[in-house]
Amino acid sequence: MQLIDGKATAAAIKEQIAQEVAQIVAAGGKQPHLVAVLVGHDGGSETYVKNKVLACEKCGFKSTLIRYEEDVTEEELLQCVDKLNQDDDVDGFIVQLPLPKHIDEQKVTMAIDYRKDVDGFHPVNVGRMSLGMACFISATPLGILTLLQHYNIETSGKKCVILGRSNIVGKPMAQLMQYGDATVTVCHSHSKNLKKECQEADIIIAAIGRPDFVTADMVKPGAVVIDVGTTRVPDATKKSGFRLNGDVKFDEVAEKCSFITPVPGGVGPMTICSLMKNTLAAGKKEYYS
Ligand code: GUN
Repeated sequence: MQLIDGKATAAAIKEQIAQEVAQIVAAGGKQPHLVAVLVGHDGGSETYVKNKVLACEKCGFKSTLIRYEEDVTEEELLQCVDKLNQDDDVDGFIVQLPLPKHIDEQKVTMAIDYRKDVDGFHPVNVGRMSLGMACFISATPLGILTLLQHYNIETSGKKCVILGRSNIVGKPMAQLMQYGDATVTVCHSHSKNLKKECQEADIIIAAIGRPDFVTADMVKPGAVVIDVGTTRVPDATKKSGFRLNGDVKFDEVAEKCSFITPVPGGVGPMTICSLMKNTLAAGKKEYYS
């Protein structure tokens, strides 16, 4: 079994991005600028946004964090989005999800100018991706694709089972794997024979948010296993009082598969690295003028 090291891969890519940014700036170009909008104080979102800001520093980007309290109105947030849409200094921005219940996430996502939507969540980017056109691709699927390429893992003709059908991971991942000429099955809570589907898979991508869901008896010997799960579970041995738990029962599955991503240190760092790739592309106006 080979461990897929997302942390090291992401670090190498961020270093490449930093070199490119240094060249752009040396040639008189503009430093890419990412803005993150964070509403409230959810622990998970705080950590993600902190790591995104740190990654910007590593890549030589300018970054700005805009904070709102939990009771911000939808109108105020939409005004913020509009301002960021108009601001020529801002190349890309994200509104960290989830948002409080009184705010319509879809309305906010739709309000973001798709040319600055480095999360790749706007319907224009989702639609362009499904048509195979240049666009911002949602960060987690793009990170997984980058890892598969980095480790020379063949996807053509392989049977890929994706567990989960979320808009952010499962759905776009299914399309990207089809572009990689894989035969794709998407399983979810209503799927029959989910275990059998997994047993036949050459590549399993687990993104259902159920800790330790994928067990060794579900995995074909030599399969590639990608774990997208990041459930926070209580852990008294940790200073924070919790740990991140993947969707895969790592120890037993690792003994059986050919490649596996750990949690943490697998897909997570690649997600942030993909956001950096998208921000660089936004700064270079690579997809949209
Ligand atoms: N919440 C969890 N993942 C993400 C992400 O990739 N982008 C945003 N904006 N919010 C998230």
